[in-house]
This record gives sequence, C-alpha cells and structure tokens, in this order.
Amino acid sequence: MRIRIVGAGAMGRGIAQWAASAGHTVELADVRAEAVTDAVGFVASMLERAVAKGRMSAADRDASLARLVPLADPWAAGPDVELVIEAVREDLETKAEVFGKLERALPSSAVFATNTSSLSVTRIAATLQDPSRLAGLHFFNPVPLMRIVEVVPGAATRPEIPAALTALVEGCGHRAVTVADSPGFLVNHAGRGLVTEALALLEESVAGPAAIDRIARDVLGLRMGPFELMDLTGLDVTAAVIDSIWQGFRYEDRLRPSYLTPNRVVAGLHGRKTGRGWYAYGEGAGGPAPEPEVTGDGDRPVFLAPGGSAESAPYADALAGSLEAAGVRVERGEGPSAE
Ligand SMILES: NC(=O)c1ccc[n+]([C@@H]2O[C@H](COP(=O)([O-])OP(=O)(O)OC[C@H]3O[C@@H](n4cnc5c(N)ncnc54)[C@H](O)[C@@H]3O)[C@@H](O)[C@H]2O)c1
Repeated sequence: MRIRIVGAGAMGRGIAQWAASAGHTVELADVRAEAVTDAVGFVASMLERAVAKGRMSAADRDASLARLVPLADPWAAGPDVELVIEAVREDLETKAEVFGKLERALPSSAVFATNTSSLSVTRIAATLQDPSRLAGLHFFNPVPLMRIVEVVPGAATRPEIPAALTALVEGCGHRAVTVADSPGFLVNHAGRGLVTEALALLEESVAGPAAIDRIARDVLGLRMGPFELMDLTGLDVTAAVIDSIWQGFRYEDRLRPSYLTPNRVVAGLHGRKTGRGWYAYGEGAGGPAPEPEVTGDGDRPVFLAPGGSAESAPYADALAGSLEAAGVRVERGEGPSAE
C-alpha cells in the first residue's frame, strides 16, 4: 500500500518506521522541511540499531529505507496514495486545514486517518467535503514498540474503513482495537486516572515527581511513572489531551486539568524533546536520583498478633511467610518483644 504520512514529528516518524518496515511504501511530509530530514535520519538510526541487535537483516533495513519517500510538498498530487495518516499538531483548525488541502490533492478513493489523541474524529471529519472517508487511527509512542492501535470510526465513517484499517494494523504486526469516538477514546480516558491524579498529588504537595514515579514503578508495576510518561509524550501534547478530555466530558470535576501545566507548556518544559520537563535530559543532565536509603526502624521485627478464627490461621501463616521471604523478621506469640 502507498501511505502518505503528514506530520513528521515524534509520532509521524514512528508510524513511518513501522509501516515501511512492514513492507508499505511511505511518503513522509511536514510543513517544516527539516522535520522530514530529521525523521528520515531517525528512522535510519533506529533500523541500524535493530540490525546491530540482530533483530533485522541489513538487506531488510536497506529495503525499508528505500520504501521511505521524503516528500518536499505535503500537498503534492499523489494518484497512487491509498491512505493518509495525519500526525500534525493536536489542534482542530490545523488538522482541518491539512485534510482540506489533502482532499484537493489526492484521489477521492484515498482513505484519511487521523492520529488525534483526544479531538473528536467526527468533528475533524465534519470539516471535510466527504466526512465518510475519515476515521481515527490512534498510535502510541514509541510506535514500533507500543503494539496496540485504537481504530476510531466517526459518526459518518464508511463501514468498510474500520475493517480495512484493522487489517492494515494487524498485517503490520500490531493489535487493533475498535473504540468509540468519545473524549480520549479508551486508553487516554483511562490514563487520566494516572496522569491527572499524579498532577493532583503534586499540586497538593503530597509528593514530588520522582517519588510518585517510583511508587508507580515499584508498586503499580508500570514501566514508567506518570511524570516520566509526560516527559516522553511531551507536556504540550499531554496538556492538550487533558484539556480536551475535560471539555469533552462537559467539565467533569474528576477530569479537571491541573493549574501546573499551562505555565510549564509556555515555558517550553515539554520533556525529552526540549531537553527539560519534569526531569532534565541530554548532556550534563545527570542520571536519575538514586533510591533513598531505607532508614528508621526498617530492621526491627514485625509482630503478628495471635487470634482470629481457625479459618483465618492459614492466611496469618501465609502473611508471615511472605514477610519472611521479603527479609522481614516476624515475631509471633502472645505479645511483641521489647525490640
Ligand atoms: N506524542 C505522543 O505520545 C502521541 C501519542 C498518540 C497520538 N499523538 C498525536 O499525534 C499528533 C502529533 O503528535 P506528535 O507528538 O508527533 O507532535 P510533534 O510536535 O512531535 O510533531 C508534529 C509535527 O507536525 C508538523 N506540522 C504542524 N502543522 C503542520 C501542518 N499544517 N502541515 C504539516 N505538518 C504540520 C510539525 O512541524 C511537527 O513536525 C497529535 O495529534 C498528537 O495528539 C501523540
């Protein structure tokens, strides 16, 4: 398939790498010419890394790169383009303008997909002359590693389009899930429980970003904490998503955006892509802070009180066993020792 990706930022380049590696011809375009050059360099370096790790042959790398076509003009005619994936700024007017120009440049048979994180797919489609040709195709960052993709039909989307997008996604090795065109779709709506709450914890001075991230990793078992995730996504993107979901759900208080984000966005504290966010990146930034020493009474024994019913005895034994397995000294008996 010949796919045109418009927007060669963090997402566009990841989608380009994924689709070109899976055998599709990918035209990559952006209003900033340097974004396309950077993106092609980025994809080349990622494929190089895959070859070095033995996950891709040098011949496959060369073939993938040959399928990646940098495009100087995003609105160039493209009679063979079958699918457009738009990954420009999270802003309705910008996306409407992009699709308007593409609608004039490309054949009416080309399907349009938007990678919006939080705007209404139906509203983006409504700006087109033919709203039935557009659906949401929501990837996650980094695209080659995040194997889930949300397929989002708008109210007017032709019924065969979600099925075709699902086949494309699964043909490239990712998992497609069809979700409703509701604010934040599924993953970002659920994600408010992590990110919006983490910002509320910070706002209320319960703990700092490093402590909250550590708890999310150690206790919730996540690969990264909410502040690390915001730095990876980019706070400019995250803040737009937070606002858009809040507005979409009619300003529900549980989704209220933190007052902490707007100033950080205008200050350019977007995270990895600007070198500074909740953490610092790049040369001289230093590594992550070491885990603090456990102090205080961490080496004192834990007293497990007797009592309870016969049915509960196995649970008390299991608890004692778990504590001991974790290196805790357990005392049982009538009362705790002086220790
Ligand atoms: N970053 C994420 O984790 C993430 C995840 C899922 C979806 N998204 C969505 O993907 C989209 C892009 O996000 P991103 O993180 O890649 O942003 P980004 O800022 O890294 O890249 C956006 C790119 O779009 C280009 N652009 C802006 N206006 C344009 C126009 N009119 N025509 C052509 N190109 C234009 C910019 O030059 C830039 O290179 C957004 O809708 C975002 O919500 C982002």
